[in-house]
Amino acid sequence: MKVIKSVDSLQNELKYKVGFVIGFVPTMGYLHQGHISLIEQCVHENDITIVSIFVNPKQFNDSDDLKNYPRNIRKDVALLEKSGVDLVFIPPVKEIYPDSEEEYFSFGHLEEIMEGKYRPGHFNGVAQVVSRLFKIVKPSKAYFGLKDFQQLAIIKKLVQILDMHIDIIPCPIVREKDGLAMSSRNVLLKNEERKSASRISQTLFESRNFAKNHSVEETKNWVVNTVNKDPNLEVEYFEIVDDTELLQIQNWDDKTQSVGCIAVKTGNVRLIDNILF
Ligand code: PAF
Repeated sequence: MKVIKSVDSLQNELKYKVGFVIGFVPTMGYLHQGHISLIEQCVHENDITIVSIFVNPKQFNDSDDLKNYPRNIRKDVALLEKSGVDLVFIPPVKEIYPDSEEEYFSFGHLEEIMEGKYRPGHFNGVAQVVSRLFKIVKPSKAYFGLKDFQQLAIIKKLVQILDMHIDIIPCPIVREKDGLAMSSRNVLLKNEERKSASRISQTLFESRNFAKNHSVEETKNWVVNTVNKDPNLEVEYFEIVDDTELLQIQNWDDKTQSVGCIAVKTGNVRLIDNILF
C-alpha cells in the first residue's frame, strides 16, 4: 500500500493504471468498522482501491467541532494496510485548496432541511471537497455510508450537476452491539452520554412498530419525546422523508420508501442516525 500526500504524486501513480477500474472511499479518518465495511466492498468490486483521509475544514460550520474532530493517522494507515487498500491519499489542506476561491453549489430543497438547516454551509463544504477529490482520483465507483443519508442524496445530485460518470454506492449502517451507529465522533462521548446514546437507535427501531398503527405526525412526536426523556439527549430534528427527494411525507402511503432521519445532541457531541420505514 502506498501513502501519497500530493496531487502530483497521486496522478503520477495513476498514469500507470490505465484500464484499471478505480474504486474510491473518501474519509475524514479516525477509521472504524463502518469505514472498513465500505473499504472491503470497494476492494471486492474494483481493480484498485483508493482511500482518502482528509479532515475537510470547509464542511465544519462549528470551529470547535473541527478542532475536536478525532485524528489518528498512524492507526488509520495500519488498519488500511490490513484491508487490501492500494493507495491512501492524505493531502495537506493546501493540496486540496491551493487558493482561497470558494465554489458554490445549489442543491435546492436537499440542502434546506435537516443537516442543511442546522449546519449552514456544511453541504457546500462537502460538495467542494468531494468534487475536488473526484476530479483528482477519477474513480468509476465511490462508496458512502447510509448513516449520512442526506449527504448521500447530495452526492448523487453533485455527480449529476457536474455530469461525472461515477457510480455512487450506498453502504449499510454499521452499528455497535447496543445499536449505536458507528461514527468517528462516538469516541468523544463521556461514559454517561455513551450509555444514553444507545437510546437513539433503540427508539428508531421501536418506532417501526409504533408506526404500524399511528400516523406520521404521531410517530414523529413519539420519537422526539421518547429520546428527549433521557436527560443526556436533546433531539435537534426528527423528520420522516422520502428516500430520494427528501420531501416530508404526510401519510405512510404517500411514498413507497420513507426514511426517518434524526440528529441528537449529547453534551458537545452531535449524533445522526436514520431508519427505513
Ligand atoms: O462522510 C464523510 O466522512 C465526509 O463528509 C466526506 C464524504 C469524506 C467528505 O469530507
